[in-house]
Amino acid sequence: MSPAKAIGRRGVLRSGLAAVAAGALLPLGARGAAAENWLRLQPRPGTARLLGGDEPPTAVWSYNQTVPGPEIRVRQGDWLRVLVDNGLAQDTTVHWHGLRIPQNMDGVPGLTQPPIRPGETFRYAFQVPDAGTFWYHPHVRSSEQQGRGLYGVLIVEEAQPPPVDRDVTWVIDDWRLDEAGAISESFDNPMDLSHSGRLGNVATLNGQDSSTFAVRAGERLRLRIVNTANARIFALRFEGHRPQVIALDGQPTRPHAPLQDRLVVPPAGRVDVILDLEGEPGGRYRVMDEFYPRRSYTFLELVYDPAPPLRRSPPEAFVGLAPNPIPEPKVAEAQRHEVVLAGGAMGAMGSAILDGRRLGIRDLVSQGKVWAMNGRVAHGQVMDPLFTFQRGRTQVLTIRNRTAFPHPMHLHGHSFRWLSRNGQPVAGAPWLDTVLLLAEEEVEIAFVADNPGDWLFHCHVLEHMQAGMSAVVRVS
Ligand code: C2O
Ligand code: CU
Repeated sequence: MSPAKAIGRRGVLRSGLAAVAAGALLPLGARGAAAENWLRLQPRPGTARLLGGDEPPTAVWSYNQTVPGPEIRVRQGDWLRVLVDNGLAQDTTVHWHGLRIPQNMDGVPGLTQPPIRPGETFRYAFQVPDAGTFWYHPHVRSSEQQGRGLYGVLIVEEAQPPPVDRDVTWVIDDWRLDEAGAISESFDNPMDLSHSGRLGNVATLNGQDSSTFAVRAGERLRLRIVNTANARIFALRFEGHRPQVIALDGQPTRPHAPLQDRLVVPPAGRVDVILDLEGEPGGRYRVMDEFYPRRSYTFLELVYDPAPPLRRSPPEAFVGLAPNPIPEPKVAEAQRHEVVLAGGAMGAMGSAILDGRRLGIRDLVSQGKVWAMNGRVAHGQVMDPLFTFQRGRTQVLTIRNRTAFPHPMHLHGHSFRWLSRNGQPVAGAPWLDTVLLLAEEEVEIAFVADNPGDWLFHCHVLEHMQAGMSAVVRVS
């Protein structure tokens, strides 16, 4: 790997514009007007031109031969029907991240469905309740399957989408490539499991080495940013621009400027922004990624067309998206629970329960298990529930991160309000499905447990999930 491509030491810009990879979805042979329209998703080995330019393609696993997989678009309230046809040499599933859908469509093998064996198919069919920006990925050997390129975006369109000049998806990811530009085979090594997870050395935008993005002065974009990295937290700062956040994790928020001008996007997180292109025609403006101290780098440059601005004066302030139909938590009547995250390097965890037995840290480490939730280490994805939530009742979870690492905690089947951070109320209590806790932080989240069944609640740093930071919660 030449240093020019390494994160943090980006060299000469590549020519050409960042292409939006939009592989066509193949409708399954529709027979007659009555035939339902099934989309076909095929995970299988293939190649992708991650590095662009003259660089050789990289062997990846992808859906329908594109990275990201095909962008699926449906209207709010519509049925989505997807036939998954497993072309991998190992089991897989598809999880529809952030969608509040029935449990048997959630894609967690053993818990919500049998795994899809090599050569087998599975049909996912459900009605999409919420408009917004969502995504899909496997829930089997996640660190490897997602790390090799299996993911795609699912956009649920509002009945009345906001007026913008362009609706643009930015899938941001990082990859760990070796000297030859191939995906490093070092999945789930002890260092990644016990520290920050698999951070990559090449950042991509929509499956290509991120370098430039072409814009026109005066344009208004809706940018849908989706972080599909195994572990990297992005914090994007747009030089010379003022993005307005309009949705987080697919759920509308009151339009606001990001804190400290940085869009923080944890693994699995989505941020929708309105971006007014206020720069000069012909200008270039950097978008920096500044999450990790002393390791900022230019994620890409906005490259302005020399043409005069599209409009004379900026469009009117954006008033916001209509909320989705999520039941409002009643915090005063809530069942309350505490979740303590422990373990990892520099952590103080001496022992924890694995498969019903208390094991010392050495024995845990020897089994590749280093993280615990409430003293319990997950082994696989099927386990006794950590909590049982009364169906229909508000739940408040206080999550305490007693570790030296950040953890984006994701709850399946529900969206929750982020009530507080380190004891301070969070402005607007935004709806999320993945909440980021930095080292030693505490948060409170609240939601109505309205979706029956067993659901995963886990860290979305995929190596942390693999190494035990995962639990099942039951709604009944
Ligand atoms: Cu993105 Cu368990 O999920
Ligand atoms: Cu974690």
